[in-house]
Amino acid sequence: MRLKISRGETSVVVFEELRKSKNVSGMDLAKKAGISRTAVWKAIEKIRNAGYGIEAKKGIGYSLVSEPEIPVYELASTCFSNGVEEFYYFDSIDSTNTFLKKLVSERTVRAFAIAERQTSGRGRLGRKWLSDKGGLYFSMSLDSSLFSLSVEDMPKVTLCAGVAVCRALGKFADVYLKWPNDVILNGRKVSGILCELVGEAERLWVVVGVGVNVSNSVELSMATSLRDEGVDVSLKDVSLEVVSTLFEYLELLPEGWGEVRREWMELAKPMMGREVEVNSAGVRYVGVALGIDEKGALILDTGEKTIRVFSGDCFYGR
Ligand code: BTN
Repeated sequence: MRLKISRGETSVVVFEELRKSKNVSGMDLAKKAGISRTAVWKAIEKIRNAGYGIEAKKGIGYSLVSEPEIPVYELASTCFSNGVEEFYYFDSIDSTNTFLKKLVSERTVRAFAIAERQTSGRGRLGRKWLSDKGGLYFSMSLDSSLFSLSVEDMPKVTLCAGVAVCRALGKFADVYLKWPNDVILNGRKVSGILCELVGEAERLWVVVGVGVNVSNSVELSMATSLRDEGVDVSLKDVSLEVVSTLFEYLELLPEGWGEVRREWMELAKPMMGREVEVNSAGVRYVGVALGIDEKGALILDTGEKTIRVFSGDCFYGR
């Protein structure tokens, strides 16, 4: 199932009215949204399709009585008030990143896609991202000119997204960051971010994809989920917190990069001063992690010299 919601469409207006009051008549909804009764009925059906329970009592009106695990319309509202033009919800898809990359390469549009599960979820460095039901999987497309960023600045977007997700999950659990943007809980990865570029240098788009293991099963020794670490939180609360915090932080770029970098250092404190091993394009570096530089590269003290690593995978040494 695929549901597309566009900014300003009638189902969004109708949902807002249903959220505000109970027993709203079809006539009132039609008046408030400036649409026909048939259009109201169609909007109600669309909201039901997204998983919301709407009771219709003859002569009384419509009431919202239950909501889905993924708060589709609440998320869509957050997205629309942050400049997103199109919102997509899937019960199942190969990958929300793949979907948005294709969409943006055909038609540049600020879009957001969320799925209950992914059949070919992708991680950094060509890895798979296990995406069973119960986790949070979403992507958003961003026009890089919004932040006046060029290709070399992309690590800033990646690190900024990491700070946002870590701050959001920090409301529920004691998490920290591992370079570049793995969110770690009790020594294991609970969330990851995949940023991909689409288009030409002059008109560059970025797709930011976020995966959070909430109550999905992750049978990997390096990974965990909030549920497996005893954090009792709903997918609804996690998704609303993560999505709104991500918008809040991305808005800080480019001027606020200095602040984002400071916050990154604070959230990554558990890895600073520790010996780490970094694999970058097949080359192995070992050194003590000192921080990130103004470009977002990891600074390592190898004992002989200080080096900077721009991309790769980081493991703890001794
Ligand atoms: C990582 O390897 O740490 C990054 C994982 C990113 C996973 C998310 S889930 C939503 C989006 N769609 C994908 O296929 N990948 C990202």
